[in-house]
Amino acid sequence: MINTIRYLCKKTMLSMFVLLASTNVNANSLDDKIVALSQDKKTTTQGQTLFNQMCASCHSKDLSGASGFNLKDGEWIHGSQPSSILSNIKKGFAKAGMPGFDAVYSEAELQSIVAYVLSKRVGFDKLTYKIYQMTDKNDKVIKASKLIKQGSLANNFADFQLPEIQNYIIEFEGDFYTFKDQVTQIWVQWGKRIDLTVEVNGKQVKREGEWDPVWKLARGKQHLKLSYHSGKNKLNQRNLPLIVTNDDLSIKLFPISTRARAIMAEKKVEVKAVSKTIVQRKKVMKVPPYSVSVGLPAKINYAFNTRTCAIVGLWQGDLLNVGPNVGGRGQDGSLPLGDWVFHSPNSVNHQATNTKCMYKGYQMIDQEPVFNYQIAGVEYALTARATNDHRIDFHYQITSATKAPLTINLPQRNKLSWLVSKGKINDSKAFITPDTQGGFTVSAQINK
Ligand code: HEC
Repeated sequence: MINTIRYLCKKTMLSMFVLLASTNVNANSLDDKIVALSQDKKTTTQGQTLFNQMCASCHSKDLSGASGFNLKDGEWIHGSQPSSILSNIKKGFAKAGMPGFDAVYSEAELQSIVAYVLSKRVGFDKLTYKIYQMTDKNDKVIKASKLIKQGSLANNFADFQLPEIQNYIIEFEGDFYTFKDQVTQIWVQWGKRIDLTVEVNGKQVKREGEWDPVWKLARGKQHLKLSYHSGKNKLNQRNLPLIVTNDDLSIKLFPISTRARAIMAEKKVEVKAVSKTIVQRKKVMKVPPYSVSVGLPAKINYAFNTRTCAIVGLWQGDLLNVGPNVGGRGQDGSLPLGDWVFHSPNSVNHQATNTKCMYKGYQMIDQEPVFNYQIAGVEYALTARATNDHRIDFHYQITSATKAPLTINLPQRNKLSWLVSKGKINDSKAFITPDTQGGFTVSAQINK
């Protein structure tokens, strides 16, 4: 009885609230609240901390999934509404191995986790498609009378295998999320011949590049429309692998078509320096061939080129996704699992009249690689040390007799500063006078 009265009161209050607010309440107001929280930096920062502590082990730190599902794409198996995501996290999925977090965190903390997950959202949302039957290969005129099929795609990936006819145009359209803080673009590898039109917020985007065409996206949330004309392409060339990349194509960020998703999933083979330094000799995107990559457990990595004896790349984070080498077509380079500080053509190199370098190989000493080489008649042994991800010390040891002054060229980048132990720096050059033993250190400091 008391309960009934209580219930009635609650209900009356609720309906009053409905009248006042005159829009959706209940679950929807919670959805709106969490969506608003996802725009709030303080909340998402808190959510990120909790996520990294409790969720990253199964869903990976970048949310791209491991034993648990990918949480940043548009595919939701158990419900995409913020309120459903919240209740899924509370209950967990015991059978699949995910514990419930209801008793672990407060309501506000749980909402901050959902807000963080939403803020990381990438790719399509509310994706729909339309297929038009064209009269022949050259027909590109879209008319309502040619529309033969349309629908929505619950998994939010553009599926280019939907048409079962010869001459057609397929359109995909929906809301779209990409990164707010960097330039991103749609990329089709070897897409020279494909006839694809991209519209962002109702305006057609210029196609750039020839063999590997790209279309620049807006930042953050936008409306995206793709229109593909089958033209002269053979059936097996029509299943487009559309991938969003960063502005210089060095990082594949996320897939937006079903084909690209399959490729990226099969190509994810992560190599990380967890407790000790790791050396990899695979080709890496953005650094020249014949480079050796070294990942330090402090989560900073560099690439040493064995032809030029220069440090041709430096990146923070984990070492490499070697999937593209393993599963790919040879020329696909591995991808750094972090952020570039600099990469080729920028490098740390010796300025010498005779810059021909003779590489002699590397040895592991105390679990660290030491690169031995000779340049301009002087022999060097190079190794690196790091205590955290924003400072790395390259130690050079001259092992031949001459210990004469020398010059090292240093790349200039935003947020990157250099220090030398035996000498001085002027602009992009370090003028070094090695100590009597022939040692000196060049340190890269990466500011936040
Ligand atoms: C021990 C591993 C593990 C941990 C820890 C874990 N999850 Fe999960 N999670 C999973 C698995 C496995 C699934 C897939 C459930 C299934 O198969 O239906 C899942 C599913 C989910 C889903 C549903 C996705 C969908 O497509 O609908 C969400 C949301 C989610 N997890 C969020 C979280 C959050 C947030 C945390 C941290 C508070 C977390 N998970 C911690 C393993 C884990």
